[in-house]
Amino acid sequence: MEDGADGEWVALREDDGRAYLLRRVPGEVKVKGLGRFDADQLLSGYSFGDRITVGQKSLTVVDPALPEARRNMARRAQVIGAKDAGFLISWMGIGVGSRVLEGGHGSAGLAMHIANVLGSSGTLISVESRPEHAVVGKANMERLGEVIPEFPEWHLVDGDLGEVGNAVREICGSLDAAIIDVAEPWRIVPAIEPLLRAGGRVACYCPTTIQLEKSWESVQSQGLVVEWAGEMIERKWVKASKGGVRPGNQPMGHTAFLLIAAKIAPHEEE
Ligand SMILES: C[S@@+](CC[C@H](N)C(=O)[O-])C[C@H]1O[C@@H](n2cnc3c(N)ncnc32)[C@H](O)[C@@H]1O
Repeated sequence: MEDGADGEWVALREDDGRAYLLRRVPGEVKVKGLGRFDADQLLSGYSFGDRITVGQKSLTVVDPALPEARRNMARRAQVIGAKDAGFLISWMGIGVGSRVLEGGHGSAGLAMHIANVLGSSGTLISVESRPEHAVVGKANMERLGEVIPEFPEWHLVDGDLGEVGNAVREICGSLDAAIIDVAEPWRIVPAIEPLLRAGGRVACYCPTTIQLEKSWESVQSQGLVVEWAGEMIERKWVKASKGGVRPGNQPMGHTAFLLIAAKIAPHEEE
């Protein structure tokens, strides 16, 4: 068995997917759920793919990726999860090299998903008005930056999402995509529309129907066209004890309605 590189991040994964992130460096660390130990000594002689016992737990040593980083993230505000983030990323065409604005940044739930797909050529601008939230998001993003192989150019702007025009123009000119996750998205849309390139998209994350309706009216009054509005409904299935697979017993929860609108060329006056 070969040791991994000094300082690398390692995830110790329970069979059910729970995971603990630790760095292969000398010195005692406390890992919530696992206890206190010297990670360098603990991992000595172990490589990715090996099984390791820590206390009572039997774990697999894995190379961490987004899911392991998210399992370990600190949370302050409500976070956007894989169900909605994955949908937004695909529908909005966010990928390698995209220039993306997102806010409020909160604990970086959405930002981590976006950063994971932008590659090193992408640009992500996150905006957060509450420093006590920004500090949590920043710590989560910095750790993700050490865990995944490519990380975008990332800017965390302290301020109001509705007043970031100059910062966005300075950083990347215009935007391919912007995602608004604040209580009143419809107030932010007019400031975002001029920053979008033609064909660029804005999304509003709207927990309630009134937020959806007001955001819908707002994007239309800015001349954007609604490409998709609705909600993603997720239903997990389980293996039944007497054989077969079936929907699980857990309720189907609501997160938010999503609204995606695109910037088109203005119509000529008749
Ligand atoms: C629901 S949380 C965002 C969660 C985040 N998108 C995630 O996935 O983890 C909303 C955040 O927006 C911030 N916020 C509210 N209004 C804002 C504004 N006008 N400009 C920037 N941030 C704002 C709040 O402080 C809060 O942290």
